[in-house]
This record gives sequence, structure tokens and C-alpha cells, in this order.
Amino acid sequence: MNLTTESSIHLITAIPGPRSAELQKRREASVPRGVASVLPVFVRRASGATVEDVDGNQLLDFTGGIGCQNAGHRPPEVIAAIQAQLEQFLHTCFMVTPYAGYIQLAEELNARTPGNFPKKTFFVSTGSEAVENAVKIARHFTRRQAVIAFEDGFHGRTLLSLSLTGKSKPYKAGFGPFAPEVYRMPYAYCYRCPYSLTYPGCEVECANKLESMFKRHIEAEAVAAVVFEPILGEGGFVTPPAEWFDVVTKICRKHGILIIADEIQTGFCRTGPLFACERFGLEPDLIVTAKSIAGGLPLAAVTGRAEIMESPGPGGLGGTFGGNPVACAAALEILKAVDSLGLSERSEHIGRIFESRTKGWPGRFSLVGDIRGVGAMRAIELVKDRATKEPADVATQKVLAACHRRGLLIISAGTFGNVIRMLVPLIATDAQIEEGFLILEQALTEAAA
Ligand SMILES: Cc1ncc(COP(=O)(O)O)c(C=O)c1O
Repeated sequence: MNLTTESSIHLITAIPGPRSAELQKRREASVPRGVASVLPVFVRRASGATVEDVDGNQLLDFTGGIGCQNAGHRPPEVIAAIQAQLEQFLHTCFMVTPYAGYIQLAEELNARTPGNFPKKTFFVSTGSEAVENAVKIARHFTRRQAVIAFEDGFHGRTLLSLSLTGKSKPYKAGFGPFAPEVYRMPYAYCYRCPYSLTYPGCEVECANKLESMFKRHIEAEAVAAVVFEPILGEGGFVTPPAEWFDVVTKICRKHGILIIADEIQTGFCRTGPLFACERFGLEPDLIVTAKSIAGGLPLAAVTGRAEIMESPGPGGLGGTFGGNPVACAAALEILKAVDSLGLSERSEHIGRIFESRTKGWPGRFSLVGDIRGVGAMRAIELVKDRATKEPADVATQKVLAACHRRGLLIISAGTFGNVIRMLVPLIATDAQIEEGFLILEQALTEAAA
């Protein structure tokens, strides 16, 4: 079904098609179910904001590999840089014989991350690994052990990062015991305020509660760092009020506690500026990045104040594949693309389209409880009843399935599984964005019927 003659979507089979169905059977026999996929559609190739499956169906991608394709699938300059690096060398291990691309990328991130102070950067392969290392460094520098994380936060699936993650099913249930010395407090989730208050009258009570954590749970002198996503990703695209950052920063500074910002999902222009912290004037001591950093190659970084990053001694940090030369070459091109493609402006532009497109939705769809986000990091929270805010998780799955049937790849988020999140590549054309919204509207209409 083609929606318009210029549609990015071309479906020649039902979704999933027969080749995907065949692969799905093999997958079920060979891969554990714990590694779940949103839809059983197998990819043949991808380009820009579209994905072609093995049956030849052309799908519009509003997921970008969960936020890894802010610059689009396979930007030509990135592919050229990868190919050039392939001709040189693939791996020597930076810990054995280093190479220039790693240094150049570290210099770029040191210069471009928030905070006008000397910084240093090192690379690992995944977001979880970067989060783990940021905590390691913070502990080493402060000589303190405790870490404060937030409800509804997501920081990964390895032991320490999973311990920081604030969602039980499916991530934590059955996987304990977790790493010790992780303490948790509610996030600034205004739509579902944990204190039943309303902004701005609340005077960001949730941020001020940090002081009471020190009385009730762990003394401030034992806390190495506070770790948070500036805007929740997996937790449902929740943006705290700007004052939240000011209060948290003030309290952390007062007690010598480091701030670790997890920009793995928010980074690389997803929220408008290169990093979400810039929106709030936040200068974290350590910032972790991954996902869109290298256009889809596995790369993650920890960047931080030089004196903090220098704390661990030689050999204390690293990893065999960290800062792979091909991934570094891709990342350097991604940073150029941020400028040449104007990804920040594109992100804000997509945000404006989202706002104008969704303005009328609360009036049209009783399912729509909250519409939120900044830049191109936008989401819709669905509820059964606006007064009780009971999460409409089943309806959310229905809406997503209706989108998938029509060829729009889109995923959910949120602790209650009732948030539809948009992670469309920022290079998507206006026509593609409009087409995605049209499908989402049709899906909401279908779910409401
Ligand atoms: C905010 C955030 N932190 C950490 C991670 C973990 O990254 P990875 O899956 O690369 O280990 C993710 C992944 O979704 C994330 O969104």
C-alpha cells in the first residue's frame, strides 16, 4: 500500500513477508528469546530514513536503530571514511599501538562537550561500558563508593549499568543480586509527579529531595556521583524543568559529588543542540556518549574534567576494542555531518513539525495523555483515562502494530510501556516526517475505534 506517489513506503508483501518469516523461524531456534526484537522483519539494506527488508518492502524508519542514526543510515561521507580506514588497518588495539583517529576524536569531544574547562576522553564499545567506566572514574577520583541514580532511568544491561537502571521488568527481574552502593530517587517526571505536586508551584521538590536522601539513605560524604539522563530515553522521553538541573548541580557542588550525564540517547543533536545538557546550561563533570556517535558502528566515550579523568593510573582504564579505528573514522565524519547537514537546526525543525502536527491530538484522541519532548526527541504518552492517567499499554501496542502494518517502524518507551517515542533520523525529509505522522494518526484513529 503506497500512501502517496512520493511515499517512502513501498509494501509488496504483508509485514512480515515470507523471507522474514523463514528467518524468524531460524532465529527462534538459534537465538535466545531474551534478545527480543520489536518486529520480526529482517533487514537487507538501509539508507537515509528508510529500511528495506529481505522481502523487498521499503519501510520508513522512525527508530534509527534506537537512536543511533541521527545522521541517517549510511551517510555517504561516513561510508567513504569507513572504506578509507578499511584500506589502512582494522585493529591494533589502542593499548598496544595507538593511532591518530582516536586522538583526533578525543580532541573533538573535549572541545565540543559542555564546559569550558580542560577535558580528556577515552573510548569503549557500548553505552553500558561507558556508564560503568564513568562510575569507576568517579569512585577513583572521589575515593567514595556510593552512586545515586533515578527511577525510570536506563543506563544499560551489564551488572553495574543494570544496577543503575530503574525499571524491573524486563531488565532487572531475576538478574540480581545487583552491584552494591547504588541508591535511587524519583526523577522529575512531572506528568506523574512522585510527590503529587504541580510544576512550577512544586518548586522542584523532587530535586530538593536529594538533601533528604543524605539524611535517610546515604551520607553525602560517601556519594561519588549522581548519574542521570538529562532527558529520560527508555523511561519515556521525560524532560525535567530547567530548575531541576540547577538545584541538583548546587547540591552536588556543595557536597563534592560529581555529576555524570548519560547522553547516550540524548546526544548528537537528538534534542536540538549537540548535547541535551546545553539546553539546560548543565556542565557535568563526566559525560557519556554512544549510539549516534559513529553512525551505527559500536563506539562509546567517557569525557570529563581532565583532573578527574586523570585519576586512574595507567592500565586502570581501557578494553581490547575500545576506540576501534574504523568506528573513530566514522565518528569524525559524523561530527562533520553535524555541522554540514545542520543537524541541530533539523532537530529543532522536526520538533516544530511534531508540535504543529500533534496540537489537535488531545482533542481528537482520548488516548493521548501527554505530548512532550524537545527538539526531535518527542513522545506521546497514552492513557486509558486522562483523570486517572492509567497507562494504556495494550492500546500502545495496538497503535504500534497498526503503524508497523503500514510500513512505519516506530517503538515504545516508558516504565509502563505506554509511550510512543520518535527517534527518526534527523536527515529525514519533511515529506517523510509528515508521512510518519499521517500513519501515526491513522493508527491512533484505528486504536480508538
Ligand atoms: C540512556 C542510555 N544509557 C545507556 C544505554 C546502554 O547503551 P548500550 O545498549 O550501548 O550498552 C542506553 C541504551 O539504550 C541508553 O539509552
